[in-house]
Amino acid sequence: MKIVLNHKCNFTKSEFLKYQQEFSKIKTSHPLVLCPSTPYLSLFNLPNTSLGSQDVSCYETGAHTGDVAASQLKMMNVEYTIIGHSERRRDHGEKDSDIKEKIEKLLSVGITPILCVGETKEERECGKTLEVIAKELSILNDLDKEKVIIAYEPIWAIGTGEVPTVAEIDEVLESIRSKAKESILLYGGSANDENIEELKKSKYIEGYLLGGISLKLEKLQVFLDLC
Ligand code: PGA
Repeated sequence: MKIVLNHKCNFTKSEFLKYQQEFSKIKTSHPLVLCPSTPYLSLFNLPNTSLGSQDVSCYETGAHTGDVAASQLKMMNVEYTIIGHSERRRDHGEKDSDIKEKIEKLLSVGITPILCVGETKEERECGKTLEVIAKELSILNDLDKEKVIIAYEPIWAIGTGEVPTVAEIDEVLESIRSKAKESILLYGGSANDENIEELKKSKYIEGYLLGGISLKLEKLQVFLDLC
């Protein structure tokens, strides 16, 4: 199972350094990707773990204040980048066209994009889940899909403690699989040490994108032991 840890906008510098020290005691055979807040990318120092970022600019270089280009991430040894997370779509108005450009920039420098897709509660209740996901995935049509990791993250499950049933997750992942035959498929949204036994019944989940539990190393170790 591929395990991607999304720290979001958490930790002071000293908390992050302490976390890294503790993290080096984690024992697992699952491949890990740590995505810290951008200021801490340069402090990353963990053997046997890959470095990821939580975003990238859709611009290459030049007059774009506040942006971080794919080539700059590459120079920081970033191997993966989370793209199109619902919090960025919500907080920064990111559109599918922006997300497509970001994926192109990442692929051009050899960073693996982790594309997040997912429906709102209302969309699920109206039976529109598969339609919403298909639209979000359509940006991959003329790209090298197999180089993109796809994370199904129902928006209503992120940080809420609510998780879809395994049948609901598998219905979505099956439809993603039919469109992206080679991509690694992740599940994200309140996955934790208490529901991992249930999530393990999925036929399609190949890894997890973890938010809340990524900050709590004892629970993370239990999760890794069980998955
Ligand atoms: P969560 O976050 O595990 O806290 O629900 C997952 C994510 O947003 O990537």
